[in-house]
Amino acid sequence: MSGYILAIDQGTTSTRSMIFDHEMHIVGVAQQEFTQHFPDSGWVEHDADEIWQTVLATIEKAVSAAEIKIGDVAAIGITNQRETVVVWDRETGQPVHRAIVWQDRRTARFCDELKHKGLEPLFTEKTGLLLDPYFSGTKLSWLLKNVDGLKARAENGQICFGTVDSWLIYKLTGGKVHATDATNASRTLIYDIGDNRFDDELLSILEIPRAMLPEVKDCADDFGITDASVLGAEIPILGVAGDQQAAVIGNACFEPGMMKSTYGTGCFALLNTGRDRVASSNRLLTTIAYRMNGETTYALEGSIFIAGAAVQWLRDQMGFVKVASETDALASKADPHQRVYLVPAFTGLGAPHWDADARGAIFGLTRGTGPAEFARAVLESVAYQTHDLLEAMKKDWNGSASKTVLRVDGGMVASDWTMQRLADILAAPVDRPVVLETTVLGAAWLAGSRAGLWPDQKGFAATWKRDRRFEPGMDVTEREAAIAGWQDSVSRCLTTR
Ligand code: G3P
Repeated sequence: MSGYILAIDQGTTSTRSMIFDHEMHIVGVAQQEFTQHFPDSGWVEHDADEIWQTVLATIEKAVSAAEIKIGDVAAIGITNQRETVVVWDRETGQPVHRAIVWQDRRTARFCDELKHKGLEPLFTEKTGLLLDPYFSGTKLSWLLKNVDGLKARAENGQICFGTVDSWLIYKLTGGKVHATDATNASRTLIYDIGDNRFDDELLSILEIPRAMLPEVKDCADDFGITDASVLGAEIPILGVAGDQQAAVIGNACFEPGMMKSTYGTGCFALLNTGRDRVASSNRLLTTIAYRMNGETTYALEGSIFIAGAAVQWLRDQMGFVKVASETDALASKADPHQRVYLVPAFTGLGAPHWDADARGAIFGLTRGTGPAEFARAVLESVAYQTHDLLEAMKKDWNGSASKTVLRVDGGMVASDWTMQRLADILAAPVDRPVVLETTVLGAAWLAGSRAGLWPDQKGFAATWKRDRRFEPGMDVTEREAAIAGWQDSVSRCLTTR
């Protein structure tokens, strides 16, 4: 039987391909990790060709796991790590340099220079972002300055820039299409999210030639057809969204006021603000949640760089657990009278502090502190950081976010202990969906609905089901004291205080 949807989730540490059947059930999955390159302190790179190989390998394995043929796939959806910069030769498809990953901080000083010139308000007004190395623009500028002859070739139209979605579209279509979607474009620091176009003034400040930029399309759109020589079949690519935006879609947060938070390596909370492009006064980002039928829906985003990565740290660096899933059992054994705080500023702090030079610290240690208290501090740090984001969102959006139920997804949400703690610290209910693979589901839905095989937006939203609601249950005084202790700990880590 045909009519299957293939969704590719190209993440920061691994690539996954999934096959969905016509009832939106996952019937085949494959995952592959790839090399992380750290050529210098704070630098993070990926080999774009290696990423491409993982895409090919996982597609083949997922198709085989689903016991179908590639020709049974009716449409492809792509979701991806955002902001990461790939630059390649338009003719040969050869990357000119390793991809510079969103986590890479090499342009921190350049961002400071731009800030000192008073340019941050201009960038924020047009793009909704801040002058932080996190976003693509300054990384692209770095490549143009540091790869010999690149700027001249880019000006001549010989070079393509793209985020990872763009790179995969180019490869899948055999080099015929150079495109991206509005959500990925909205993370580049050169895209005007009000006018929906790359902005000449910002391009000129960052010295980026327009000739290297991709065409920007809706999230559900025609992104080209796979070349038969690449996958062995001609399949339309019909859906593309950055991974956090795909999770908004997969979690069916289609109404203004709905919010999701994804707990992977980092944590990204997005609040749907509808047609309202809310400018943040609290250092959150304004971003495109999705663009469909030419209509843009906006979101406020809070980005935390370390969430699940802190559990990995507990496992790999500290050796306190053997597998990540042991963490909540260990945390539940912690002495309730000890208040130990971990500020996981391992790569600086994201929203709402944006302090690239802050570093992690642990506070409140006593002779009685052991692995259990460390485990609890790690899991609680995720809840406290989410709390800080939601507080900023409430201030930015007329208090309406305070009534919101948070929909969660990502690897960490399997932990009941963490989700209960999250609800307690937020003093708000937390809804965990039945389908935890919301990011991939979002990409699959974009493609499946565009192909006319899956329900429309309303129909899809009706299929969203809750596995469990975690209700807040913490005593008010205890909660306030816990949050005050966290805020004091964070303030001690900031270099900008
Ligand atoms: O903005 C970065 C984000 O898109 C990365 O997500 O899941 O690949 O760590 P992930």
